[in-house]
Amino acid sequence: MNAYSNAIETFDLSRHFGSFTAVDNINFYVPKGEIFGLLGPNGAGKTTTIRMLCGIIRPSAGNASVLGFDIRKDAEEIKKNIGYMSQKFSLYDDLTAIENLNFYASIYGVPRSDRSKRIQNLIDQSGLRGVEKELTSSLSGAWRQRLALACAIAHKPPMLFLDEATAGVDPLSRREFWDLIYEMASEGISILATTHYMDEAEYCNTIGMMYQAQMIALASPDTLKDSMPGVLVQITCDQPLRAQEISDQIPGVMDAAIHGVRLHVTLKDEKQVNNLTSALQTAGIQVTEIETILPSLEDVFINMVESRLKANPQDSFGG
Ligand SMILES: Nc1ncnc2c1ncn2[C@@H]1O[C@H](COP(=O)(O)OP(=O)(O)OP(=O)(O)O)[C@@H](O)[C@H]1O
Ligand SMILES: [Mg+2]
Repeated sequence: MNAYSNAIETFDLSRHFGSFTAVDNINFYVPKGEIFGLLGPNGAGKTTTIRMLCGIIRPSAGNASVLGFDIRKDAEEIKKNIGYMSQKFSLYDDLTAIENLNFYASIYGVPRSDRSKRIQNLIDQSGLRGVEKELTSSLSGAWRQRLALACAIAHKPPMLFLDEATAGVDPLSRREFWDLIYEMASEGISILATTHYMDEAEYCNTIGMMYQAQMIALASPDTLKDSMPGVLVQITCDQPLRAQEISDQIPGVMDAAIHGVRLHVTLKDEKQVNNLTSALQTAGIQVTEIETILPSLEDVFINMVESRLKANPQDSFGG
């Protein structure tokens, strides 16, 4: 294996499909043993980035290294040394869990003499003990996810790519899945994960937010939250949509966004809270609670995208 200090380094990495730019000059690095989260709306360019880093597609411009290997020159070395798991990871339904592990261990080149021991380790490590002899078709989504992870790391890769690996899995199982990921990182495995679940993003050492092919923010979850301008208040009321419209009209309101049944309003400073409360009351909105809260990553993301849209109004969401 190459000597490397950063598991991933990218240099103005770009990918075009015809005249369309899917990834636009992105630069980031992932130190060895860290978990890097790539966030962004549908079509932002996350999977395309991963596919370039895994050596599946070539960059149109720029370059990157993974585990010290050049993605343009050493794609085959990279493929051998990484694990990759997506939502669509193929498990063979007509095989048992242990047969799937055996299959992947063999295609990933685990020597026959080590295979049985390695598979027993994987079963224990991923908490699959007890279901290893069950047919894969009979396993629930959460078990399948664990099995897919175990298959993806059968060859002990030092770098793991997770592309929406937990999509559609319940919150408790997602948490347990991330406990496994954390354990792997603590053993020195480097991880790049994409997710649409903001709670999962909290597990990452560094987050890269992608929007319309560009990296619009790159920092730790806490730094991103600290960088949010203004004061965030959460409002519980009877007509959140109308409250949002009204809030948008008030000077001193930087942003108002619906979060489930509540409204999150970003104010220039704390002094604006009274203005906001009285405007809502005047409009006949029943406010049950109004409180200052710490921003979540979702708030940060919405805020970043909206400030970008304000700066470039010709861009539209998801375009
Ligand atoms: N092979 C391809 N040919 C043409 N366009 C492509 C190709 N692959 C991806 N794209 C386009 O590139 C853009 C980025 O796609 P990508 O799959 O990387 O997004 P993503 O961030 O992974 O989105 P999602 O969250 O939906 O998975 C999309 O507009 C997509 O349609
Ligand atoms: Mg994707």
